[in-house]
Amino acid sequence: MDQGTQRRSYRRHFIIVSILVAIVAIISIVGLWAVPTFPIASTQAITVDWLFDLHLAVIGFLFALVMVFMLYILFVFRRRPGEEGDGDHFEGNTRLEIIWTVVPLIVVLSFGVIGAVTLRDVTAAQANEMTVNVTAFSFGWQFDYPEQGVEKATALKLPVGRPVHFKLKSLDQDVIHSFYVAEFRVKQDLVPGVPTELRVTPNVEGAYRVRCNELCGTGHTNMLADVAVVNQADFDAWVAEQKAAVSPERLAAMGQELHASQGCIACHNVTGEPGGVGPTWKGLYGSERQFTDGTSGVADDAYLRSSILASQERIVAGFAPVMPQNYADVLSDQQVAALIEYIKTLK
Ligand code: CUA
Repeated sequence: MDQGTQRRSYRRHFIIVSILVAIVAIISIVGLWAVPTFPIASTQAITVDWLFDLHLAVIGFLFALVMVFMLYILFVFRRRPGEEGDGDHFEGNTRLEIIWTVVPLIVVLSFGVIGAVTLRDVTAAQANEMTVNVTAFSFGWQFDYPEQGVEKATALKLPVGRPVHFKLKSLDQDVIHSFYVAEFRVKQDLVPGVPTELRVTPNVEGAYRVRCNELCGTGHTNMLADVAVVNQADFDAWVAEQKAAVSPERLAAMGQELHASQGCIACHNVTGEPGGVGPTWKGLYGSERQFTDGTSGVADDAYLRSSILASQERIVAGFAPVMPQNYADVLSDQQVAALIEYIKTLK
């Protein structure tokens, strides 16, 4: 093969490979973009998804580049029957080496800059922010609204379109939790002793969920909290309801929800079945209790209150002192009252 023929042959291979790379890249990118994800429910999510799609585009192109070149070489330049000689020998190609060093360098540096700008955008303080204090514990969440005067809510209620400034802290000393709502796209770890913050502007009304995003122990999978993004009128009504005096029936219903959401259910059943980690709540109210120190008492309001808030003071005979001791920090007075009202209904 003379030099001119060989050059034309190289050019032909190069054109074919370029076309194949373009086709495979487009199919890969469109395919990656079509993978379903959680819907978007915050303005930060729009920015994050844009950056994510940009990454997927580069990933799709690189995948096509590597796969097409590799498969093309494997098939087109394979050794055919009767071919005994060595292939062509190449030594170095300065132009190619400069291209495959400089182009990736520019791409990586560009992503560094774009990433930094995006991070600045999604963490920027907004006008008219509403503060919500988030407290994580093993294994649950609670939310305080200092501006609205709502304390220790077990679910998150947010008005649509209003920027929220979450201030996060953990009651634990030994594990890391992480505040994450998939539809908001942003997340923040809660590190013991280190207050952290997160900014979210919910922009779509709906029901979502906080899911703890760090493996934090046996209750990790149940470390959930409901999130409701609602219109301003519904939010105001909710705030008013949280602060209003509550009927015993409503309290008992709240207690039933807390029994599940705060993990009481893991140790205290309400069916009276024996063998629980802690005493059953069925028939508990007004019953006679025998304690490990030999004393006894009646399970009245005061007893139930101290059993929740200072559980280690008196242990019911036959049970181990394993109940968490942080409920004075975790539960509001109203929530303790709600649990007691609920226990009263379990006759
Ligand atoms: Cu908290 Cu996982």
